[in-house]
Amino acid sequence: MTKHRWRLLAAVAATLAIVVPLAWMWQASRMPDTYSVMDMGYVDYGGGPELGHGDGGHGGHGSGHDAGSASVPAVSVEELVEDTDRDADVEVDLVAAEEEIELASGRTVDGYTLNGTSPGPTIRVREGQLLEVRVRNESVDDGIALHWHGVDVPNAEDGVAGVTQDAVGVGEEHTYRWVADQAGTYWYHSHQVSHRQVVRGLYGALVVEPRKQDRAVTTATEEVLAVAHTYSGRRTLNGEEGDVAVPVDPGSTVRVRVVNTDNGPVRTWTGAPYRVLAIDATDVNEPTPVEDRYLTVTAGGRADLEVTVPADGRPVRVQVGSATALVLGPEGAEAPAVEEPEDELDLLSYGSPADLGFSPADADRSFDYHIGRRPGFLQGKPGLWWTINGHMWPDVPMFMVAEGDVVTMEIDNSSGDVHPMHLHGHHAVVLSRNGQRATGSPWWFDSLNVKDGERFEIAFVADNPGVWMDHCHNLQHARDGLVAHLMYAGVTTPFEVGGDARNEPE
Ligand code: C2O
Ligand code: CU
Repeated sequence: MTKHRWRLLAAVAATLAIVVPLAWMWQASRMPDTYSVMDMGYVDYGGGPELGHGDGGHGGHGSGHDAGSASVPAVSVEELVEDTDRDADVEVDLVAAEEEIELASGRTVDGYTLNGTSPGPTIRVREGQLLEVRVRNESVDDGIALHWHGVDVPNAEDGVAGVTQDAVGVGEEHTYRWVADQAGTYWYHSHQVSHRQVVRGLYGALVVEPRKQDRAVTTATEEVLAVAHTYSGRRTLNGEEGDVAVPVDPGSTVRVRVVNTDNGPVRTWTGAPYRVLAIDATDVNEPTPVEDRYLTVTAGGRADLEVTVPADGRPVRVQVGSATALVLGPEGAEAPAVEEPEDELDLLSYGSPADLGFSPADADRSFDYHIGRRPGFLQGKPGLWWTINGHMWPDVPMFMVAEGDVVTMEIDNSSGDVHPMHLHGHHAVVLSRNGQRATGSPWWFDSLNVKDGERFEIAFVADNPGVWMDHCHNLQHARDGLVAHLMYAGVTTPFEVGGDARNEPE
């Protein structure tokens, strides 16, 4: 062989050495157009006993032949509905449309509405009531699905297209039906093409009023929502820009329900001392007055603040981000600006400890949810993508549990960005952050702001069977692969991502 040919061969070999693994990685990053989330990634038992995961699960890895599957009869998510046939206490009809949104300021943006507005109507129910929401899709071409963010609904009502239902196409309707068993502040939003539909307005607030207000906890007589959302770069509260005047009598104590519907965290602070009554619809135990501290409201998260309007007629400003505020007080009163405090209120030590109702030390399973980032391919696209436990989507863990398991999870973030982590269907409690134990009120959450370099240890009880998303609520990050699922042994879903309904949960 001539020298020339050798060189050519060497060059071809070198090229193949690069191209073949790249082609393999490219291929491995692709999911078929239609797939079941049950077939995604690999099963993670969290160090607990291996469980069967129902028929049809992980088809590629010998479905239905797992040890134990015979002893666990398969149940479909469709069967996991509210267990009552009584009549609804509250019925709500929603109509979703793709149209121009007119903000309260008069500005118009392209997006989606519910009953003609964005945010959509606020849904109010009382604790214990059965809610029925019928939603009709008038004109949203991609289809819609409604998710009740923070409500631990039965799985069939979770509203995730491709996991718990099919997307509702134009001209179709779907009814959600669930009992509101925990008072608090929530919101609802589309979980079909959510990185576009939520950002562009398909959401609303949801309030579950307590059966009866505990006067020992708060004397608030008024309540007001502060729903933060950014429409094409415009920050709004309840759809309004800038200062939003809320007429209340001097001397009144107000519960302000702050809801963050954006992709990033928002800071809130006030012009008078405040108390944090609740985080993510869970009461804080013995909240003390806060001064000179801002509170971070996680993307997707909620915080109920209690503020008292001075008796002398001066209003109080409740700042939600630096661009928007509620001004609580007599009509027409001007509220001076309030500088953003330098320090953050630390929920790890706020309030007083209380019983958790379970023992995280006796965990049946312990999972890792370690978030990183590295170069690779996502659906064939090269880029720097998120990783979960070192694996890139779709090769992510499937966290497997059995009903009744006590579960701990370590969420660690070394990805260079903040991630608001949201587990559907459950509330979890923070045990520690960066090794520091929680010493305040039990910090229950459904949305947790995990900054770069942070490590949280959390715990929850697996008490709500289903297939549940566990994802980043920066919806663009979810779109970019920061999505895993928590799956109960024996539960299967007949729904698929893609398919005729063109389901696309992220
Ligand atoms: Cu606000 Cu997966 O949800
Ligand atoms: Cu994220």
